Amino acid sequence: MGSCEEPCRGWGHYVPSPVLLLSLLLTAAPFGLLGEETRQVSLEVISDGLDPPQNLLHIHAVGTNSTLHYVWSSLGPPAVLLVATNTPHSTLRVNWSLLISSDPEGSLMVLPKDSIQFSSAVVFTRLFEFDSTNTSDAVTKPPRKSYPPYSLAEFSWNNITDSLDPATLSATFRGHPIHDPTGAFANGSLALRVQAFSKSGRPAQPPRLLHTADTCQLEVALVGATPRGNRSLFGLEVATLSQGPDCPSVQEQRSIDDEYAPAVFQLDQLLWGSLPSGFVQWRPVAFSQKQGSRDSAMPCQASPLYPTLAYLLPQSPIVRAFFGSQNNFCAFNLTFGASTGPGYWDQHYLSWSMLLGVGSPPVDALSPLVLGIMAVALGAPGLMLLAGGLFVMLGHKRHSEYQSIN
Ligand SMILES: *[C@@H]1O[C@H](CO)[C@@H](O)[C@H](O)[C@H]1NC(C)=O
Ligand SMILES: *[C@@H]1O[C@H](CO)[C@@H](O)[C@H](O)[C@H]1NC(C)=O
Ligand SMILES: *[C@@H]1O[C@H](CO)[C@@H](O)[C@H](O)[C@H]1NC(C)=O
Ligand SMILES: *[C@@H]1O[C@H](CO)[C@@H](O)[C@H](O)[C@H]1NC(C)=O
Ligand SMILES: *[C@@H]1O[C@H](CO)[C@@H](O)[C@H](O)[C@H]1NC(C)=O
Ligand SMILES: *[C@@H]1O[C@H](CO)[C@@H](O)[C@H](O)[C@H]1NC(C)=O
Ligand SMILES: *[C@@H]1O[C@H](CO)[C@@H](O)[C@H](O)[C@H]1NC(C)=O
Repeated sequence: MGSCEEPCRGWGHYVPSPVLLLSLLLTAAPFGLLGEETRQVSLEVISDGLDPPQNLLHIHAVGTNSTLHYVWSSLGPPAVLLVATNTPHSTLRVNWSLLISSDPEGSLMVLPKDSIQFSSAVVFTRLFEFDSTNTSDAVTKPPRKSYPPYSLAEFSWNNITDSLDPATLSATFRGHPIHDPTGAFANGSLALRVQAFSKSGRPAQPPRLLHTADTCQLEVALVGATPRGNRSLFGLEVATLSQGPDCPSVQEQRSIDDEYAPAVFQLDQLLWGSLPSGFVQWRPVAFSQKQGSRDSAMPCQASPLYPTLAYLLPQSPIVRAFFGSQNNFCAFNLTFGASTGPGYWDQHYLSWSMLLGVGSPPVDALSPLVLGIMAVALGAPGLMLLAGGLFVMLGHKRHSEYQSIN
């Protein structure tokens, strides 16, 4: 993903040929017909009652034959565990006194243990800030000067209960550095808004990632913090647990459809392995305004995923609690914005969204608008060709059916 040339940046405009359009029309249409699965979703805050509060947010998504557990936590660096079980009756067990101790191993469990089909974790370890004033193209070259990073393990987080909204199945972790000598976060915060879904759909806010009942969405927003440079770019370090010695794979999906995320023709995803497995999915775009639009869209560049020694990263107690101390981590960086175009400096605002889930990642079908445009673009000859092709195919099929009956 790091070595993208011009056409694979997801940023340029891309004009597909009619033949490609036709083949996409034929292969992509059936995805729109897939049925939707629903889940009974509940959100529960598990608190230790201390001040400042240490919260666990347990998202419990029950289907006919399975349960998904998403455990989000602000204990240490923000982190999420995802655990998929093959029974609708699995439960989460937490021992708080053990969890906040120096050796939390075994304090978080999903029972029965043999129902677990997949489990992994994602940890948000550090927030970076770079000076982009002297880089010609920050999208392809990493920005040069880096300010001291903010360790997200050394943030103080709000009481999540106050932001819990059962109607939208969402809650927000809002934090600022515990030690803030320059007062950069005096009026600012880093917010992690988590949302679960009981059925598939698409939110109103760009990048409008298609979600299913098997996923939850995270929106990361940096709001109101004073940047240390005139044109600061921000970056987020993300660590994941790998299933073996190899890192999860990262894929780029291309689409000719940008109706839901204007001018973004790419979908990036991280896959933990073969199914049943988990995934993280995002569009390589961030926004410099709350009302995300084409004008406030910034590129989001991801570095390759590399194995990382656990002790180089801020430690997540919930990861140690569930997985023990022997783990392989892989980490990568996301960088938001470029030295030109919209940036955090415009309104001191930055947001980026990702989807986390289990099973097959949602696939965008071509939107009705694009299908309509394609029909017009193909024009009458193309449609006749298509109709002719279908007629020949159907004709053959009927013919062979008659033969077999006789
Ligand atoms: C968090 O807020 C809820 C509701 O406002 C309150 O009941 C709970 O005691 C608070 N927890 C902490 C640790 O302050
Ligand atoms: C749930 O399990 C039952 C029995 O094992 C099976 O018949 C059914 O097809 C499964 N349903 C789903 C949605 O997987
Ligand atoms: C929690 O862990 C502590 C320390 O290991 C143990 O003494 C206690 O019995 C555990 N509590 C429960 C409810 O299992
Ligand atoms: C920016 O680059 C120019 C020329 O390359 C150099 O003279 C200048 O000192 C640089 N400024 C900073 C702040 O690094
Ligand atoms: C924070 O906001 C207050 C009131 O709006 C303002 O007086 C103060 O200068 C702001 N501080 C920073 C660091 O922006
Ligand atoms: C920011 O811009 C102002 C005015 O253009 C300039 O005086 C100042 O040196 C710049 N600061 C940095 C850190 O580049
Ligand atoms: C992320 O970027 C920072 C600053 O450039 C660097 O120190 C860190 O090692 C990078 N992390 C990963 C996982 O690449």
